[in-house]
Parts: sequence; structure tokens; C-alpha cells
Amino acid sequence: MARNFLFLLGSTRSGGNTETLARQAAEQLPEGDSARWLRLVDLELPGFRDGRHTEERDRPAPTGDAATLLDATLAATDLVIASPLYWYSVSTPVKHYLDHWVNWLYTPGLDFAQRMAGRTLWGVTALADPDHSAADPLVGTLRHSARYMKMNWGGVLLGSGVRPGEIAQDTEAAARAKTFFSSTPKPAALA
Ligand SMILES: Cc1cc2nc3c(=O)[nH]c(=O)nc-3n(C[C@H](O)[C@H](O)[C@H](O)COP(=O)(O)O)c2cc1C
Repeated sequence: MARNFLFLLGSTRSGGNTETLARQAAEQLPEGDSARWLRLVDLELPGFRDGRHTEERDRPAPTGDAATLLDATLAATDLVIASPLYWYSVSTPVKHYLDHWVNWLYTPGLDFAQRMAGRTLWGVTALADPDHSAADPLVGTLRHSARYMKMNWGGVLLGSGVRPGEIAQDTEAAARAKTFFSSTPKPAALA
């Protein structure tokens, strides 16, 4: 079945290593699959406030860039969080986007949880450290989030680089990128 990929670019610079690695992997998508790319820093999400247990609990549907992101998220069968490693975890724009999932979970009539269940979450990450275990907290954040949302888990494609372009020297990452999206994701609860 054809897949609709949404690539969410979470770097705070353009043309960075994470984006390069994500685009290498996306080049291998089979004909028929579609790919949409959104750069999170170009989209203005309102500051996040936890209103779950207040009168703000039932939120109106989002508008503006938040609606753009929500609609793009719901249109995707496969969601790719392309986040550089920042302090061992996801970048601020990615964390902010994920926090907004909580608002969407509480938006009446949206059925965000039910609609996200069964979709696939993937990650692509560049980090400075040649030891990829430094990204374990980021991998855990994404995998646990997928499990919470009853999504499938595609895993995280990792590559090392510091300055933009340096990812090209990580030939092992380039090799992994070739087959990354051809694996068969399992329910995150089993991964
Ligand atoms: C705020 C910030 C925090 C970072 N934290 C880490 C880190 O914890 N571990 C690491 O290996 N690299 C860290 N780095 C380096 C980046 O992960 C690395 O430069 C990566 O290539 C950036 O990806 P990008 O080119 O896609 O923006 C950090 C960079 C920044 C700007």
C-alpha cells in the first residue's frame, strides 16, 4: 500500500546534517509513496500551556500554523521526526510540536488518539558524537511516544556530523539510509 510520509525537519538551521540524512533516506522511497516536508522553525506554534485540568481543558480546534501541522500530521501514514540531537534529546521545535499533541488529544471531536493509532513513527538524527548511544534518550523519547500513541515504530536512522555537510563523511549512515524506510515497522509496544 502506498505510504504518505511527512518529514518534520526539527533543526534550527537549514541544510544541516539531519536534513541531508533524511533526504538521502527519502530518495529510496518506492514510486507511489509520497513525501511532504515541513520545517518546524518556519511554523509558529503558540507557546504550550498545560490546561488539561482547568476550564481550558476542551480546546477549540487549532488555527494558523498549528492547524497546518495538525492537518499534515493526520494526513500522514508515516511520520518522520528529523531532529538533530540537542542535549541528548530532541530539538526544542520538535519537543514543542510533541507537547502540542497533548492539546490535540484534548480537542473535542478530533479523535487524535484514535486516528494516530496504527500509523508509523520514524526518526532521523544527526549528532556530533561518533558514539550513537549518546542518542539513546532521543530514541527512547520517540519510541515511548509511539507506544503511548499505539503507533508502529520504524526506528531511528543515526549519523554523525558537526558542521553542515559533515554527515557526508559518515559512509555507514549513508549505507543505512539506503534501506531505512524498507524495514517493516512493528507496533511500538512490541519493539
Ligand atoms: C543546542 C545544541 C545541543 C547539542 N547537543 C548535542 C549532544 O547532546 N550530543 C551530540 O553528540 N551533539 C550535540 N550537538 C551537535 C549537533 O547534534 C550536531 O552539530 C548535528 O550535526 C546538528 O544537526 P543539524 O546539522 O541537522 O542541525 C548539539 C548542538 C546544538 C546546537
